[in-house]
Amino acid sequence: MSLRRGVTVPDLAGQRLVVTAGGTREPIDPVRYLGNRSSGKMGNALAIAARAGGASVLLITTVEPPVETGLEVAPVETATQMHHAVVAAMQSADALIMAAAVADYRPRDVATRKLKKSERRLVLELVPTLDILSELRSHPRHGEVLIVGFAAETDDLEANAKRKLEGKGLDLIVLNDVAAAGIGMGTDDNAVTILDRSGVVAQVPRAPKSEVAHRILDVVAARLSGLRGAD
Ligand code: CTP
Repeated sequence: MSLRRGVTVPDLAGQRLVVTAGGTREPIDPVRYLGNRSSGKMGNALAIAARAGGASVLLITTVEPPVETGLEVAPVETATQMHHAVVAAMQSADALIMAAAVADYRPRDVATRKLKKSERRLVLELVPTLDILSELRSHPRHGEVLIVGFAAETDDLEANAKRKLEGKGLDLIVLNDVAAAGIGMGTDDNAVTILDRSGVVAQVPRAPKSEVAHRILDVVAARLSGLRGAD
């Protein structure tokens, strides 16, 4: 960790970080999509903080990227596009941070023309998307790349986060109470708990997402340099 302009910056020099941000958009027709409330602010903050720490950063995002220079940006829209971009990025990554809110379902059929209004009910049939993190368990570089997931939860927070950590084959999970007022999706602040397989690694109290990003990356930097944690 080094000091820059009075704030601690995680030391990520020489590391390649891949960060995903934003909510995926699953098209219904040429003008409509199914989306979610993710603003991409947490992913953007992580990308900026990783860059400040000296990492080379690829930001795979569904939203407008930050204006900071030095970020590589791969714009995507759907879960399928994000999946392809992440799989390709795994080849050169030291760490992957999946801050994106990936849709769990997409419309089975995408209309090629705008759906017209009528008096009749409209039923959309949804099919599951691929779970990007779960799919990575069979990637040749799984185990070499530090994989960090997010858990957006409203109930049974730690139990659900642990289930995701193990089920998705993650090294770390960042637990986010999205039901709490003032933190979570769309807000400027966040408060998170970081867990690994042995339990809680760090607790980050409510702070601006930029500050929370630095604390998450402290843990990532410590793991990448072979230490147990930064708490
Ligand atoms: N994720 C993913 N692919 C999906 C859905 C989610 O890779 N199709 C990732 C997210 O980027 C996040 C983690 O999995 O890092 C957990 O996402 P979350 O939405 O909390 O959980 P889900 O697995 O979607 O489960 P549920 O919605 O039932 O809580």
